[in-house]
Amino acid sequence: MTIAPQDFFPQIAGWVAQLDDTFPGAWVKPYFAQWEVLHLLSLALLGGASLLLNLRLIGAGLTDEPPSEVRRGVLPWLNLGVVGILATGLLIGTSNPERLYTSEAFTAKMLGLAAAIILTYGVSLPAAKADGRLGRGAALAAALGMAVFGLSIGVFAVAKLVNPGLWHVIIAGALLVLFVTRGLTRIIYLAGLVALMVTQAALHHVIYKPDDYAHLDPANKIMILVYLALILAAAGVQIVSSGRGPQGAGPATKALAYASILVWVTTAAAGRWIAFA
Ligand code: HEM
Repeated sequence: MTIAPQDFFPQIAGWVAQLDDTFPGAWVKPYFAQWEVLHLLSLALLGGASLLLNLRLIGAGLTDEPPSEVRRGVLPWLNLGVVGILATGLLIGTSNPERLYTSEAFTAKMLGLAAAIILTYGVSLPAAKADGRLGRGAALAAALGMAVFGLSIGVFAVAKLVNPGLWHVIIAGALLVLFVTRGLTRIIYLAGLVALMVTQAALHHVIYKPDDYAHLDPANKIMILVYLALILAAAGVQIVSSGRGPQGAGPATKALAYASILVWVTTAAAGRWIAFA
């Protein structure tokens, strides 16, 4: 049993199979690369907007302005990026439909997209509008968004030949926390990351042979958990120690702002790994 769209919606196989022979799939097909460039430019736009918005909630980046001002500035660009990525995604999807229909990475990506929209529009934007406060609606959206995000990560983690893509999410989380932490926390955290990278290089090139997958696969799974523990610990210290400040968000809003960035990274990583399955 796989977790691709074809396993959940077998009845639409015929419709999917003809999508690239009819408009707009047939029309987009010869220009797939050009449309994919627009897909990635939209990603850059929405990614940048999401970063500025959520970093401000975390307490980094544009800290000279209150979160509500940052929200006002980034909102049109965020909306343009989201509309652009959905429109171009649907167009390139109709021109290569069977690849998506049979792809477990695409399932992880669509769950990630749903979670990203819920966390961005239901949590980060309203929290920024209220200068960091989480209302009841945002708290409900947070619970739903985090549950769907968890499902996306779960599918990503069990999909064969796709799950190495989760390293992108770990690396993005590691860099995000490195950017946000300050002082001694940052130094200790960086030392921890370097020690883990040296350990991993030794595992791959000294302790085991690079093609000794029987040992390297479980070792890498343990390594991913150790990285995760270190990143979460440093983020936890940052969330608690940076305080609320005059125009700052509380710990829950900050934790959700981290998730709101990483959910887009997860969606993008799953999008990239459609090609590798
Ligand atoms: C309606 C929603 C979407 C659809 C139908 C869609 C469809 C696609 C398709 C067909 C591909 C090409 C896959 C391949 O042949 O290898 C792709 C690639 C990709 N998508 Fe999407 N996409 C959607 C939304 C998104 C979103 C929201 C993101 C990011 C947050 C995203 C990020 C990417 C990335 C990074 C790639 C890889 C490009 C590359 O190969 O370098 N997509 N998408």
